[in-house]
Amino acid sequence: MTDRSVYHLALTASMLDGATVALLPGDPGRVEGIARTAPFTEARELAHKREYRTWIARAAGRPVIVTSTGIGGPSASIAIDELAQLGVRTFLRVGTTGAIQPHVDIGDVIVTTGAVRLDGASTHYAPIEYPAVAHHEVVAALVAAAAERDVPARVGITCTTDTFYPGQERYDSFSGYVPRRFQGITEEWRRLHVLNYEMEAATLLTMASAMGVRAGCVAGVVVNRTRSEHVSADDLHRGEANAVRVAVAAAARLAAC
Ligand code: URA
Repeated sequence: MTDRSVYHLALTASMLDGATVALLPGDPGRVEGIARTAPFTEARELAHKREYRTWIARAAGRPVIVTSTGIGGPSASIAIDELAQLGVRTFLRVGTTGAIQPHVDIGDVIVTTGAVRLDGASTHYAPIEYPAVAHHEVVAALVAAAAERDVPARVGITCTTDTFYPGQERYDSFSGYVPRRFQGITEEWRRLHVLNYEMEAATLLTMASAMGVRAGCVAGVVVNRTRSEHVSADDLHRGEANAVRVAVAAAARLAAC
């Protein structure tokens, strides 16, 4: 068999060195820092093409991949599909999020059990009636990792959107207009006990279930929309840092089993 490079990620199966666990941040700028976070060791870069940057590291002797997905479902779907083609079987998204419940604080992490599918990419992998649910072993690993790292975790339903502005009912966009479909939708999700907005979980969870592999999502809270629309540099740092601390500990647990 040839060691063929996948089209977008510029990786071959042999470059992954048998890794079956991948951490998926959105931002290529976060990949190196995640790969260098303890308990990971021996971090090194494998490839960088467009928004897809990949590093490999080791946790308890096992290889773990860190690949950025870019923002949103379409680019994430390419990373997930190509990593699965190369042998990855456990996917862990690590990102940031806006909370929509008043009891959630900046710096908390949200562990997604299921996601509202307001993305488009997941519908190309399974019909809309199909659920976007996290794998129970990944949820358990994330909850245990949060407890181990002393990071407050909220566990529940996430809303994934294709747009940051109208889809998350933000009025501070260029036009200031939110189409009627989305006017009042944040209050509806709040009443339905949805915890947060972000932009990739539903795509990942739907694809993973459809492909028969494990996936989960942990996101650090960088803004609480019941109090503010503004993400400060400090809040961004706190949310990102806590999500990464939990994600690397969970990836190490998942790589071991
Ligand atoms: N990411 C999102 O998608 N929404 C937020 O409010 C913050 C981060």
